[in-house]
Amino acid sequence: HLNAVILAGGSGTRLWPLSTPSFPKQFLPLPSGKSMIQETLERVAPLITPAQSWVITGKSMADLVQEHLPTVPAQHILREPMGRNSAPAIAWAAAAIAKQDPDAIMAIFSADAVITHVESLRNTLDLAYKLAEQGKLVTIGIQPTSPETGYGYIRFAKEVSEGSGYKAFQVERFVEKPNLETAQSYLDDGHYVWNAGIFIWSVKAILAEFSQHLPDIAEKINQIVDKASTEDGQHMLDTLWPQLQSISIDYGILEKTSQLVVIPAQLGWNDVGNWNQYGALFPADEQGIHAVGSHTGFGSQNVIVYNNTQRRVYTIGLEDVIVVEMDDMTVICHKTHVQRVKELAEKHHKKA
Ligand code: GDD
Ligand code: MG
Repeated sequence: HLNAVILAGGSGTRLWPLSTPSFPKQFLPLPSGKSMIQETLERVAPLITPAQSWVITGKSMADLVQEHLPTVPAQHILREPMGRNSAPAIAWAAAAIAKQDPDAIMAIFSADAVITHVESLRNTLDLAYKLAEQGKLVTIGIQPTSPETGYGYIRFAKEVSEGSGYKAFQVERFVEKPNLETAQSYLDDGHYVWNAGIFIWSVKAILAEFSQHLPDIAEKINQIVDKASTEDGQHMLDTLWPQLQSISIDYGILEKTSQLVVIPAQLGWNDVGNWNQYGALFPADEQGIHAVGSHTGFGSQNVIVYNNTQRRVYTIGLEDVIVVEMDDMTVICHKTHVQRVKELAEKHHKKA
């Protein structure tokens, strides 16, 4: 009774203009031709069938989710009236699963991360499952390579168990999104890993944490799930959901709980947070140009061209540049400025 829960609440600003609020990152195509959300489900399919998989997403995206994942049962696609961040989303999924199977274990994945070492992921999940059965809240740790401030940092302590080549450690401290100086000190410390945003725990254990640390969310979610299959269900959801505190699982629970363990793993994990990372997923030609769609050029270096149109794109002598060609707009961005695409997207949406 292992269930997968895919969090698909992305807002779609950092990979704009390909990704937009109505077509966010999780629906973007990967080199396989499949979308990120499809690969997320397929990665775990040998362990967890689509019938045991759940997706939680905004109601405006739910139909698109179902199109991408036709094998997931419609009643397993939970439609949020609005985004309330990851804690309420996880609480809802946990309570909905618990209603069917109070002893279930849930494995939570982001719809918009790439993992290339699928075998490692499955082995890690094996060990995680055993720990989750003992009531632990299991996180997966990624070896940090830079003082990235957008991630959670996990300081691991003594080893608690091992299996299939992996070890689990007690967590001494979880810190969500530290500032740059703190992040650098964690990197220097050597006992920190990044939180991959993959969580494995029993629905019982996580619901107990909600009752303790976020009791208001726990109570409202209980009412929503209790009434779900009644005539009042939709009304209850529409009334209570907007009242939920908007908070992430990281700040709301993970920083506070004493039940956390971490399994450091090499998963080839990439959260595809910007155009440099997304572009790099596609193979490069001999000049180092990652081109998707029609492109001809020469003399360029370290360039990403994403041409989403039938038009031809020609480039000469560019260096460290990203070109995104869409039907109704073109975005050209220096590679050192990818983080600012978000600002551009916000400006555009304000105008539109
Ligand atoms: N359904 C739903 N509803 N999903 C949501 C919502 C929501 O309101 N808000 C966020 N999510 C989903 C996102 O789609 C994503 O899959 C996941 O929850 C994480 O949310 P992000 O907004 O991407 O979080 P983050 O990147 O700032 O930080 C998290 O991920 C990092 C790794 O990528 C944290 O867990 C960090 O600790 C972690 O290092
Ligand atoms: Mg993220």
